Parts: sequence; structure tokens; C-alpha cells
Amino acid sequence: GRVSASVQDKNVLDKTNGKKKQKVTKLDTNPPKGTRDFYPEDMRLRNWLFDQWRDVAKTYGFSEYDAPVLESEALFTRKAGEEVTQQLYNFVDKGDRNVALRPEMTPSLARMVMAKKGGIPLPLKWFSIPQCWRYERMTRGRRREHYQWNMDIWGVAGEEADAELLSAMVTFFKSVGLTSDDVGIKVNSRLVIGEVLTELGIPEEKFAATCVLVDKLEKVPLDAIQGDLEEIGLDRSVVEKLTKVLTVDSIDGIKDVLGEDSEAVQQISNLMDLCKTYEIEDWIIFDASVVRGLAYYTGVVFEAFDRKGVLRAIAGGGRYDKLLETFGGDPTPAAGFGFGDAVIVELLKDRDLLPSFASTGIDTVVFAQGPDLYNTAISVATKLRQAGQTVELVLEKNKKSKWVFKHADRLGAKYVAIIGSEEFENEQVAIKNLQDGEQSKISMNELSKWVEDSKLV
Ligand code: HAM
Repeated sequence: GRVSASVQDKNVLDKTNGKKKQKVTKLDTNPPKGTRDFYPEDMRLRNWLFDQWRDVAKTYGFSEYDAPVLESEALFTRKAGEEVTQQLYNFVDKGDRNVALRPEMTPSLARMVMAKKGGIPLPLKWFSIPQCWRYERMTRGRRREHYQWNMDIWGVAGEEADAELLSAMVTFFKSVGLTSDDVGIKVNSRLVIGEVLTELGIPEEKFAATCVLVDKLEKVPLDAIQGDLEEIGLDRSVVEKLTKVLTVDSIDGIKDVLGEDSEAVQQISNLMDLCKTYEIEDWIIFDASVVRGLAYYTGVVFEAFDRKGVLRAIAGGGRYDKLLETFGGDPTPAAGFGFGDAVIVELLKDRDLLPSFASTGIDTVVFAQGPDLYNTAISVATKLRQAGQTVELVLEKNKKSKWVFKHADRLGAKYVAIIGSEEFENEQVAIKNLQDGEQSKISMNELSKWVEDSKLV
């Protein structure tokens, strides 16, 4: 076939005259490290997950969009020391352009919104399920490509947008059978860090890089980021003070530190009230230590996590009111989240919540008991398909019944339609119901009626 031809050297093949067997280097059948193949069963699982995401997005009134996987590298180069910018799959193309596979969707969304120069009526509520590429160190649930459900709202500055996003996320969790005992969503606002920095007299331009650093502290000790600290010219004591504030575990505690009039406190309280109204408060936990690793978040940030604490973050998002400005666009408030396909599947497997994807969804296997009956089999398959059935027509003309029934069983089909010579003479089809083993003869011109009737059972 195509594969072996591509790995065999043609000259070597030509010289092979049967006597000496030439060695052929076998193709490495693994996909590139950190990437996945989707065999049909995997694909059914993936489509099932995407359908759940799409359904939720649509019931919340979001419209689907897409963008190229390949973007200009410049779209992703930010200078705040984020992990994603160091994990780019980038290269120079044949036209000398610096390009990269997208590590995330948000910059592409910003580019698309900006390209319309205000021509898109706001607020917009858009969703997408892009494949994203990051050169990551691999762990359970972290790979080098993943699909990421994105939900974003542009043009709404208030916490109403953040609450709507959180509610959509919870609706998805519920739709796949998870409860607030399985999953929680930690919520915080970066305004907490902002206000502490202002109090300490740290200039605004250090805000983003500081947030990225504080996020790193979740994983590594302070000493490990000494170099980063020096790079942004931040005193170690500032970070120490910050991390202390971020261990405060209640909104009242934050209020004690930042004062009654703190915008951060008002923002978080308001969001919590909205979550109560949405009746999702069981899922929401205030956690001042959640910062998220992306530089562009400006306000509310959140992160869905598995309550058993075994898996990495299930989803993450927040408000990024200044992203468009960093691209030279008009200030436009925005908020959204990204929800990967890897961790959620691990979690659903752990909780035994994944349906079976073994079945191909085939209703009827049609086969002719002999080559001269094959044309009739085609007509039967066509009639059944037109009536709405999913039909597997046995394409080989010499298969035995035994093989066909085994085949139908393997496919998880519900019926086998047999065209034998006796049936052919009577313009009939023999149909065997594989669930109850019953066999019936259906006249050729009553096949669509049979399809309708079999739907009612
Ligand atoms: P993020 O926090 O970098 O945010 O990623 C969001 C989610 O994508 C993660 O919580 C995880 O579910 C999934 N994810 C990320 N990297 C990987 C990986 N290497 N393997 C498997 N899953 C992964 C963003 O990307 C933001 N752009 C999300 C956003 C949209 N914020 C606002 N709008």
C-alpha cells in the first residue's frame, strides 16, 4: 500500500529478484510524541464530548467560530515570562514568515474581533473547539496537542458575564453526570494582587509579570524564581507579602486586608451573589491563591478542579479587559474560559461516567446470498438509507451467512436483511432482529414502512 511504498527504496525493490530478501525499514507507527491518533472508537468518544460542549454553548446563545491552527508567531509573543510563550511550536515557513501552531485560541479570537474594526455588534458570545499545540512536559492529562472548548463574552464589563460563563461550565458538568462533590470551581480576582501592588507602590506595568510569577509559586519554591524576580526588578519582600495575602481563605479575610471599599472585594462578592442566583454556589469556592498563568487576565479568574485533587486543572479562564489594547485595538472588556478534552475524559473514566463507544451505530446489515442477487441488495440498502437507517451493505459477493451474522454482531447492528433467491422471487427481504432473534419477511415496497414501525419499538 501507500505506506510501505513510501518507506521502501525503489531501487532496492527493483534489484530484488526473489533470491535475496532486502531489508525494509519499518515505519514507526507511533504518532509524534504527545499527540494522539483517533481510531473510530476514540473519534466517537471525541464527537460525543464535543456534542455536549456544543449543546451547552448553544443553549447559552453562543455562536461557533473557528480560525487557522497556524498563526503568525507574533500573535503569541508576550513578554511576561509565561509558560505558553516558551512552549510554542514555531517555525519559519517557505516564505520566510515566522509562524506558530496556536497554543491557545484567545489571541486568534482577539485578532478576529479586531479585524472587523468595530463591525461586530457587542456584546458577542462566541465559542469554539480548537486543537491547540504546546510543547509541554507530559503528565496525566497534559499533552502536546489538545482540543479546548472556548467560551468567550466580549463587551460586558460586569461580573454578569463571568457568572454566565461559570453557569455554562456547571451546566456542562451536570450534563455528563458530575456533581459538585466531584468538581469545584475556584474563583478569585487579580484585582486583589493589583490593590496590594498599588499599596506597595509598585508601578502598574509590573502587574502582568507579577501575576505570572505568583502563579508559578504554586508549583515551585520562591528560591526557584529568584532569577525571574530580578528580571522584572521586583523586591523579594513584595512577593512574600503578596503570597501571604493570597493564603487568606475568606472574602472577609481579604476585606480585612484591603478595606471596605476594595474594588476587588466588591467584585468577588458581587460574583458570588450572582452565582447564588444561578444556583451554582455549591460548585464555587473563593480561593485567593488562584491566579492563572496567562499574562492577559485582569480581573476575575477561575479554575475548575477535581475535588479528589488527583488531576490537574480541568478548565481555566477569566477576564482579560486589556488584551485588545495590547494589539493596538480599542479597549474592550472580555471574559472567557478554555476547557481541555484530556483531563475531563480522565475524570469521567475514573467516575465510570463514560458511555460505551463500541457500537458503530449501524441499524441494519444488508447482504445478498449470492452474486446474482447483489443488485437487489443495493436497492434494499438504498431504500433503507432513504428511510433514515444507518446501513452496512456487505460489499463482498461471496460471504457466508455465518460470517455476516458475526460481522453484524461485531458492529452492534440491530438487524440483518438477507436477500435469498426465494425472497427475490417473491420480491421480499428476510429480516432478522438480532435482539430477539425473530425473523420476518418484508415485501420490497414496504421497507420504508418497516423502518417507521421498527422505530416505534
Ligand atoms: P489555559 O489555562 O492555558 O487557558 O488552558 C485552559 C485549559 O486547557 C486547561 O485548564 C486545560 O483544561 C487545557 N489545557 C491547556 N494545556 C493543555 C495541555 N497541554 N494538554 C491538555 N490540556 C491542556 C487558556 O488557554 C485560555 N486561552 C483560556 C481562555 C479563553 N481564557 C479566556 N478565554
